[in-house]
Amino acid sequence: MNVVDLRNVSFRYTGSEKEVLSNISLKIEEGESVLITGPSGCGKSTIARIIMGLIPHSYSGDLRGEAYVFGMNILENPVSRIATRCGIVFQNPANQLFTFSVEDDVAFGPENLALPPEDIRRRVDESIRLVGIEHLRYSSPNSLSGGEQQKAAIASILSMHPSIIVFDEPTSMLDPSSSISLIQSIFRLKENLEEKGSKITLIIIEHRISLLLDHVSRIVVISDGRIVLDGEPMTVLYESFKKRIPINIPPVLQIYFRIKDKCGLEKPPKNLKELFSYLREEVKHG
Ligand SMILES: Nc1ncnc2c1ncn2[C@@H]1O[C@H](COP(=O)(O)OP(=O)(O)OP(=O)(O)O)[C@@H](O)[C@H]1O
Ligand SMILES: [Mg+2]
Repeated sequence: MNVVDLRNVSFRYTGSEKEVLSNISLKIEEGESVLITGPSGCGKSTIARIIMGLIPHSYSGDLRGEAYVFGMNILENPVSRIATRCGIVFQNPANQLFTFSVEDDVAFGPENLALPPEDIRRRVDESIRLVGIEHLRYSSPNSLSGGEQQKAAIASILSMHPSIIVFDEPTSMLDPSSSISLIQSIFRLKENLEEKGSKITLIIIEHRISLLLDHVSRIVVISDGRIVLDGEPMTVLYESFKKRIPINIPPVLQIYFRIKDKCGLEKPPKNLKELFSYLREEVKHG
C-alpha cells in the first residue's frame, strides 16, 4: 500500500515567481525508510509540507497535481485529520514544544483527540519510554539541550500513534556523536514498534547522507525542484557521483566510485580504514 502518493505535483509560493517543485511524482510504501536529500533550497521541506497538508492549508500558493496521504487527498482533508496518521519533526524542535513540561507537550496531541484520560496517560508513558527521556518528563522544554528537545519532539509525535513520521533535518542542531545516537534511536524505535505489530514509515530529510546509509532502503535526490534520482542507495549515490549532483556523498564512497571500475573491490568499503587496507594490499602486490 502506498502511504504517500504524489502525482505530478508542482508548487509555487504566493509572491514568488519561480516554481519550487516541478512535476514531482513520489510513491512511498508502508513500512519503507526513505532518505530525501538534495542541495539547500531545492524544495525538500516544501515536499514535507505537502505530505503534511501544511501546503496548501497553512502556506498559500499555487499547487497543481494530486497528493494523497493514506488515501486522503490533502486538498480535501484538514491538517488535523492528516496529523492523526502523519507526524513531522521540524528542523527546529523548539518550535513544536510550547508547554511548560515535556509531559504536557507529549500529552497535547492525544488531548486534542479528546481521548479518555487513561488512554492519554498510557500514550504519554509509552512515548516517553520509547525515546528514553523518562528523566526529563517534568523538565521545562526550554531547559533541554538541542538533542533532548529533538527527542521530546519525537515523543510528542509518537503519542499521536502516527503511521508516517517525517523528520526534516533531525540532526541539524546536533554534534556528530549526538547525531549518530539520535539516528540510531529513531531506527531502534521503528524496530520496537514493528515488534509490537505497528508498521511505521520513516521519511528523513537530511544532508548528512553518511548518517543514514546503514538504515535506509531508498534515497530520493531532489535538485532544483525535481526528483532527479530515486532508488537503491548505492546505485543512487553512484549515479549522483557520475552526474556531479552536489550532494554529500561520503568521502570513502567518492574514492571508491573513482576507482571502482579499475579495482577488484566488489563491495563498497564500510569506512576509510577498510579502503586503505585494500589499497595497501593493492600497492604491495603491484
Ligand atoms: N514560505 C515561503 N515563501 C516563499 N518562498 C519559500 C517559502 N519557503 C521556502 N521558500 C523557497 O522555496 C525554495 C525551496 O525551499 P525549501 O525550504 O523547500 O528548501 P529545502 O530543500 O528544504 O532547503 P534547506 O536544505 O536549506 O532546508 C527556496 O528557494 C525557498 O527560498
Ligand atoms: Mg529544509
